[in-house]
Amino acid sequence: MEKLNFIYNRKSIRKFKDEKVRHEDLIEIIKAGMQAPSAHNVQNWHYVVVESKNIIEKIAKIITEKHSKIIDVINDEEKTKRFNKMIKYYTFFKDAPALILVFGSSYEPTGIDLLNKIDDNESQNFIDVQPGIQNIGATVENILLAISALGYGGCWMTGPLFAKKEIENFIALKDNDFSLYALIPVGVPLKDRNRVPKREAIEDKITFM
Ligand SMILES: Cc1cc2nc3c(=O)[nH]c(=O)nc-3n(C[C@H](O)[C@H](O)[C@H](O)COP(=O)(O)O)c2cc1C
Repeated sequence: MEKLNFIYNRKSIRKFKDEKVRHEDLIEIIKAGMQAPSAHNVQNWHYVVVESKNIIEKIAKIITEKHSKIIDVINDEEKTKRFNKMIKYYTFFKDAPALILVFGSSYEPTGIDLLNKIDDNESQNFIDVQPGIQNIGATVENILLAISALGYGGCWMTGPLFAKKEIENFIALKDNDFSLYALIPVGVPLKDRNRVPKREAIEDKITFM
């Protein structure tokens, strides 16, 4: 359906041209992210937009160093091999001209304390569906759609979050209620055509009632 092309055109981009992203476009991209729905309209997000090549490279270095530290303590050849193969998927953003770090703060859904009065498990069931994190997912997807609609490419990244603490310490946000949830490199895609991983059959994913 043509009206939904903006959704089907988005794909993960991991290779970028050596071209800057316009600062004004980065602002539009973040505005689109902020237009996402959030429970109670709490907007429990904060974005760090990195345009400095040095800082982007420093974040990639932090991830590579933590990766090596983990490799040093893995005592299993197969696991080491698998983890080693992944490093390029955690650090490819070092060649991107811009990097968005999406932070989220905690959010207590209305009703948690009330459910607690009935049964501890009931409130746990509610916490398990993570409404606060769902807000962050919504803003990240809006950002990715905006990146693609403006002719750029990006990629949702959580793989590097094994170095979450180290990256957070480096960024040093003043409000420490915020946690790092995703990294999104942005740039002009190196290639015009990019492979899109196939989706599973709709029949296997949908239940009508
Ligand atoms: C929560 C989440 C985390 C992801 N983390 C990474 C990552 O760390 N590195 C990476 O290269 N791709 C990452 N991806 C991208 C997925 O591999 C990609 O979305 C998926 O293969 C489908 O491809 P498409 O985005 O091109 O449609 C992540 C995607 C999501 C939604």
